[in-house]
Amino acid sequence: MFEQIERVPGDAILGLIEAFNKDTNPQKVDLGVGVYRDAKGTTPVMRAVKEAEAILLENETTKSYIGSHGDPRYADVVLPLVLGSGSPVLADNRASLTQSPGGTGALRLAADFVHTQLPGKGIWVSTPTWPNHLGIFEAAGLKIGKYPYVDENNRLDFAGMLDAIREIPEGDVVVLHACCHNPSGFDLSKEQWHQVLAVVQERHLLPLVDFAYQGFGDGLDDDAYGVRLLAENLDELLITSSCSKNFGLYRERTGALIAIARNNEQMENVRSQMAIVARENYSNPPAHGAAVVREILESAELAAHWQEELTEMRDRINGLRREFVSALEPYGLSDRYAFIAEQRGMFSYTGLTPEQVDRLRDEFGIYMVRSGRANVAGLASDNLPYVAKAIAAVQ
Ligand code: LMR
Repeated sequence: MFEQIERVPGDAILGLIEAFNKDTNPQKVDLGVGVYRDAKGTTPVMRAVKEAEAILLENETTKSYIGSHGDPRYADVVLPLVLGSGSPVLADNRASLTQSPGGTGALRLAADFVHTQLPGKGIWVSTPTWPNHLGIFEAAGLKIGKYPYVDENNRLDFAGMLDAIREIPEGDVVVLHACCHNPSGFDLSKEQWHQVLAVVQERHLLPLVDFAYQGFGDGLDDDAYGVRLLAENLDELLITSSCSKNFGLYRERTGALIAIARNNEQMENVRSQMAIVARENYSNPPAHGAAVVREILESAELAAHWQEELTEMRDRINGLRREFVSALEPYGLSDRYAFIAEQRGMFSYTGLTPEQVDRLRDEFGIYMVRSGRANVAGLASDNLPYVAKAIAAVQ
């Protein structure tokens, strides 16, 4: 039977890891997959993670199952991290957290929940969006619609976004990026979040907020502005949160699906369904990453160490954005690319065409996604002049 199986191209983002590793160019630069890199180009294990792992090694007593919702102590620290410690939603006991294998696992839980419990509801994503959103929602059997987000001049198209969201059928799900929009790097201002909230209320939409980069934009609380605004003003909301980037726990698969309902009774009903969806997908989530996060956030000292390092990471990326624009100055390109300094998070939609991206890879060993998305964290003071020169060469 396998003779009928067709070979398909690999994932456009993860495939870059392999292609980059194979490249023998000594000057190669990896601006592909979204992982943080330090000035030496490595993705370090965060200091607080190492400290927490030492504690776990000493104290862990069992490897038994942790249940479909995961570790309740993890839920107790992640809910306030996302929603704010003084959140009225938490005081009213209207939020449920299901620990998931990464943000991707949380998205699949959300998608399966929508498919099985809200049959017929479509899901709407920004154009562009993280390509795996499409894969996950399609695999879950959801009907996908699109709203514009970036215009043809490579700028945030907020008017287009709002107009399109106004046309979404009542009750459908709209996917919003909480911060550090992947792939564009263009985020909504506070004022724009209020306008989105008004349209969501008017159209009775269910937002699914993808919160994969908390702490990488302007800070843990600033990045949560939109999420918390929606949580405090809507009866129902889904949030997918990830500890892959802000705790550097990529391969430990540590995330969460948060479901907010009108009242505690309805929240418990929704929560019971989430357990079934988790059970049918993978039964129990992996424990280690969540245990690390729990140890860090339960300790004032470790939490402070973690925040310090996260701040260093964020400052490095934002500094690189400015340095990148300056490096383009000798080529007369700094005005054209000035927007890079205003974008937030790991990614920048550079406006480079797929052909230009191919040339950067083939002629210079510089790797980025063909959409023109560059991982700014892959830049460093010593490769910036080389990257700037290469970009000038492919104009
Ligand atoms: C990315 O967009 O590069 C990251 O979120 C990693 C991934 O899984 O695609």
